[in-house]
Amino acid sequence: MRKIILAGNWKMHKNQAESLDFVQAFKPEISNTDETREIVFCVPFTSLTIMSKNLHGSKIRLGAQNIHWADEGAYTGEISGSMLTEIGVNYVVVGHSERRQYFGETDKTVNLRLKAAQKYGIIPILCVGETKAQRDAEETESIIINQLQQDLVDVDQSSLVIAYEPIWAIGSGDTCESKEANRVIGVIRQQLDNKNVTIQYGGSVKPNNIDEIMAQPEIDGVLVGGASLDPSNFARIVNYQ
Ligand code: 13P
Repeated sequence: MRKIILAGNWKMHKNQAESLDFVQAFKPEISNTDETREIVFCVPFTSLTIMSKNLHGSKIRLGAQNIHWADEGAYTGEISGSMLTEIGVNYVVVGHSERRQYFGETDKTVNLRLKAAQKYGIIPILCVGETKAQRDAEETESIIINQLQQDLVDVDQSSLVIAYEPIWAIGSGDTCESKEANRVIGVIRQQLDNKNVTIQYGGSVKPNNIDEIMAQPEIDGVLVGGASLDPSNFARIVNYQ
C-alpha cells in the first residue's frame, strides 16, 4: 500500500510567531481528516523547535528543508542529521529545484544528503523535475531518469518519498495538467525497484485543483509551496475529495 502524504514546503516563510499562529488555526481544520493521510510541514530551521513542541501528540509530522551529509564539522550554514532528529524531525526535503538552481546543489550532493537523512532515520523527500526549455525540447523523461539514476545510488527505497516538481510549474500558477503529471510519475515509478514509494506532485497545487490531482492513480500526494502558507487553503488541500 502506498502512503498518501500531503506536505507543505514553507520555503523561507514564517518566523516562529507566524508558525505558531498557523498551527493554532490549522489544527481544528483537520479534526475529521482521514488518519491514512499523512500531513507534513517542512519549515525553516528556526521554526522547527516551536513546531515540534506544538505538533506533539497531533497527527502532523515535521520536516526540514535541508540536511548535510557530515555528522558534524566546519560547514558554516549547514545542518546535521542529529541536530534535526533531536528536535523530532521526521522528513527532509532534498534536491529541491531552488537549491539546485540558486545554491549549487548537484546530483552528487543530493545523493549524499539522501543517504545522510536515511542514516539518521529521517525520510527524505527527493525532488526531481524538468525546466520549461527541457520540456519544450522533449527531454522531460531523459532528464528525470538521469536525475533518479544519479540521486538514488545506494539509497534505500523503503524509506523514501519522491516529489515530481516540474520547475516551470513552481510558483507560476501554471500547474502541470494532472494527466500529464500522472504520466510522468508513472515513468518515475517504472525506474524504481520499490514500486510502493510514495510519489508526490508539486507545482502550483491549489484548493481548486487538488481534487483532480489526487484523483490520478499514480499520484500519492502533493508538495505544496504557496498554498501551504494559509491554514484554510492548506486544510482544503489536505481534505481533498
Ligand atoms: P508552489 O506550490 O508555490 O508552486 O511551490 C511548489 C514547490 O516548490 C513545493 O516544494
